[in-house]
Amino acid sequence: MSKHELDLERLSDHVVTPEATENERRVEVSLRPPTLADFVGQRDLVGHLQVVLGSAKARHQSVDHLLFAGPPGLGKTSLASIVASEMGSGFRVTSGPVLSRPGDLAALLTDLQDGDVLFIDELHRLSRAVEEVLYPAMEDLRLDVMIGRGPSARSIRLDLPNFTLVGATTRTGLVAAPLRDRFGFIGQLDLYDVAELTIIATRSAGLLKVDLEAEAATIIASRSRGTPRIANRLLRRVRDFASVNDHDRVDAEVAIAALALFGVDEFGLDKIDRRILRLLCEQFASMPVGLTTLAHACGEEPFTIEDAYEPYLLRAGLMVRTPRGRLATARAYEHLGIQPRQDGLF
Ligand SMILES: Nc1ncnc2c1ncn2[C@@H]1O[C@H](COP(=O)(O)OP(=O)(O)OP(=O)(O)O)[C@@H](O)[C@H]1O
Ligand SMILES: [Mg+2]
Repeated sequence: MSKHELDLERLSDHVVTPEATENERRVEVSLRPPTLADFVGQRDLVGHLQVVLGSAKARHQSVDHLLFAGPPGLGKTSLASIVASEMGSGFRVTSGPVLSRPGDLAALLTDLQDGDVLFIDELHRLSRAVEEVLYPAMEDLRLDVMIGRGPSARSIRLDLPNFTLVGATTRTGLVAAPLRDRFGFIGQLDLYDVAELTIIATRSAGLLKVDLEAEAATIIASRSRGTPRIANRLLRRVRDFASVNDHDRVDAEVAIAALALFGVDEFGLDKIDRRILRLLCEQFASMPVGLTTLAHACGEEPFTIEDAYEPYLLRAGLMVRTPRGRLATARAYEHLGIQPRQDGLF
């Protein structure tokens, strides 16, 4: 097997959540929309954001703290970096799990320049102790630091420069209510439609210098599970396939052949999606299944199933969530070509 074939093999394993290589991460950054005007879709959210940014600019003040919420790959980090560049501010990036001790956050905060945007990804994973440091900082630009220990310990107060905190989370429900309440604006990102994803795939093809026919762009878009990151990822897979097979131009036929090779079907489902549905349809045969059981049976982490797979399976009407657990729908049985059991719910 040649190296290229090996690469294709590895990439075809997981389409939704592959381990991103360093190179893939670099490409992803290069495909980020640099301005709000380049940001496709999420019209309501973008409209609100334009008002928030416009009024802060007019008042020569920092923007209110912003929280972006939604499934992975929909553009939360992109929007955070757009906020900084539209405001002409510095952009500092960190994430919930990285800030393990209050001192880590204090060091970052005291190092900010006036007007900076501080982006905290995975905000729902901040520890309680770190959150406590964040509250006065967000509210009053104030940092309370304890000096010394025991009876001689005392607290000193530091003033912080103006800054905007931009948080991102895949789970608004897991962000502590007092933290959530301190954001002036919460933007919920929704899955994209095929027309929007077609525009995104076409734009990315231009940047990556891939000659992509309109029909092929629509095919990629319709199999991208409503997610720009996946549209870009499929585009790169299709490009790899085209170059291995000496196609200069990507037309519908090339796109379909490439996506079939990578195991992405017409619904945009990958192997893990199909494994989930197959488990629900066959192994658990119409019995509601809890998240942990399902995740164990798939060999994935529960949060991966919940964050990366379920939103699309629910939206595509292939799975339902009931109070007693997950169930496959009649549509899932039909898609997999499995006969539902007569005594089943569907
Ligand atoms: N509205 C959009 N228009 C154009 N491209 C987009 C848009 N949203 C996202 N993208 C593309 O999708 C990729 C992933 O976006 P981004 O990293 O901002 O998602 P995210 O929501 O932060 O994901 P995660 O939750 O995994 O951190 C980016 O590289 C960007 O190219
Ligand atoms: Mg992100």
